[in-house]
Amino acid sequence: MIKRNVLAHLILTVLLLLFFGCKEQQKEEVSTSSGIDRQWWKEGTLYQIYPQSFKDSNGDGFGDFRGIIEELDYIESLGISAIWMNPFFKSPLVDNGYDVADYRAIHPRYGTMEDFEEMLKGFQDRGIKFVLDVVVNHSSDEHEWFQKAKTSRDHKYYKYFHWWPAEKGDPPHRHSLFDTEGGWDYVASNNSYYLHTFAEAQPDLNWENPELRSEVYDIMKFWAEKGVNGFRLDAFQFASKDTTYPEFPEGHEKDFIKWYGMRPELHDYLNEMYTEVIEPYNVFAVAEGAGSGFEDAHDLVDANRKELQVAYHFDYVGMSSTPERYELSQFKEVFSRWDKAFSENGWLAIFLSNHDNSRLVNRFGNPSPEFRTVSTQMLNTFLLSMRGTPYTYFGDELGMTNIDMPTIEEYVDISAIGEYKSALAQGKDMVEFMERLNYGSRENARTPMQWNDTENAGFTEGKPWKRVNSNYKQINVALQNNDPNSVLNHFRKMTQLRKEHLVLVYGTYQLLQKEHPEIYAFTRMLDQEKVLVLLNFSSEASSITLPEAASIQETLINNYNSTNVKGDSISLLPYQAVLFKFN
Ligand code: GLC
Repeated sequence: MIKRNVLAHLILTVLLLLFFGCKEQQKEEVSTSSGIDRQWWKEGTLYQIYPQSFKDSNGDGFGDFRGIIEELDYIESLGISAIWMNPFFKSPLVDNGYDVADYRAIHPRYGTMEDFEEMLKGFQDRGIKFVLDVVVNHSSDEHEWFQKAKTSRDHKYYKYFHWWPAEKGDPPHRHSLFDTEGGWDYVASNNSYYLHTFAEAQPDLNWENPELRSEVYDIMKFWAEKGVNGFRLDAFQFASKDTTYPEFPEGHEKDFIKWYGMRPELHDYLNEMYTEVIEPYNVFAVAEGAGSGFEDAHDLVDANRKELQVAYHFDYVGMSSTPERYELSQFKEVFSRWDKAFSENGWLAIFLSNHDNSRLVNRFGNPSPEFRTVSTQMLNTFLLSMRGTPYTYFGDELGMTNIDMPTIEEYVDISAIGEYKSALAQGKDMVEFMERLNYGSRENARTPMQWNDTENAGFTEGKPWKRVNSNYKQINVALQNNDPNSVLNHFRKMTQLRKEHLVLVYGTYQLLQKEHPEIYAFTRMLDQEKVLVLLNFSSEASSITLPEAASIQETLINNYNSTNVKGDSISLLPYQAVLFKFN
């Protein structure tokens, strides 16, 4: 009996191989997962809250902790597992809080420490982890450390920063990401230049100094003791510097990370941080930036390295930072390449948007009223069915869109204003520049959350710090809550599906029909569970022929009411996204 079964199986296998042989050649980028190391930070979806824009409880026009507390049930209803909240510390807010003046104090705009604790407890009671944004590549120039460092070269805090003594002449050129004048600024009181990778008001901290490092670990312990579950290390790939400050060749800044990032010592500091904070407090850490390629990224996150658990790189978002459409082939290639490189070891985050980019649907989908809903659903389906921890930026669960800001007067973001000045100085075509800024500026992602169709979208009873997108009557939580086919309810279904099907977290990934111009097709497989993911990235209907189609068993999720499968051919409607279980 057994022998007959084996024989039948063999014959069937040979027949299938003969039948599908040619089609099998279309499969590419095979990757496998060996053993499962289950972790909450791999399985959950992370939801990013920009606190200033989420919900205002006191009518001052700025989002705050009590506003977030009011919306805890909403946040829980999303089915997400963790929150990453942008900085809310004491700050002059030159870079909206990425310039910290006191790492243990809350900016009064957001509330008090008691409010923070209540909010944290609210998350914990709902089983939601909390990830704190730690901005320690640089501080604010209003931080006590910098204020004192300026007073004298003999002050112990002088060594907390990077200085070039003015008697040595001009410092070697360093590029600054936010300052067209360059990365050094002069302080008369100590006759030295200080280094700043970002704005003038964001002096870089000296990670080469063990005392500084130990201060940072104490800050992290302070928050870990309050109960936060993880840290996001802002701009951390730039933390270590070559303090001999060699001259860099002209034009080097085009390859910014290579020259300014990922120095070998960075790994020593991360090892130290791991031993001091990450391991003993059982918290997790994710770095913004993953260096220049796979090797750097592996060095940061592979378990044996004892550095970080997760990193995120910018290859995905980089491809859509200008209004020119990205190519789907490029999109597939980038995701498949990174997946393959991390199929055996290491773990990455998956994201398509955050507070530093314009809105997901504008960049990767189709924001027109006709396709906004389906294309956002398609993108959210994609994010939540890939390997890697999905990061969802607040508002993308609704399909919030870019805001139209055609003139520079309305811009408040230091980065946008810096780019504008630099374009002016270079004599660029400013009409074209403004078009690009309007499309790509990170201000697009910072408009207030759209809760309902009352004035200011229910975000505040006062004057919002930033104009609410005028489409709030068409895109808001209240409207979408009641619509089973909304972007919001689709997002909830996806987070639930990811929880129920471990294959979506840990399964191997295989790209199918790499060359298909409209459809992104791939499989996820874990043990006996096989899922076929089909995403139409086009505003036209399209179809694909796949052997897997013939063995479809069940539809797991679909952003339309029907599917069209005939034999091995599947037709998809514009931006249709379907997950099928198959044999
Ligand atoms: C990171 C943050 C960004 C900030 C910059 C400087 O890139 O995500 O918002 O402006 O660091 O801290």
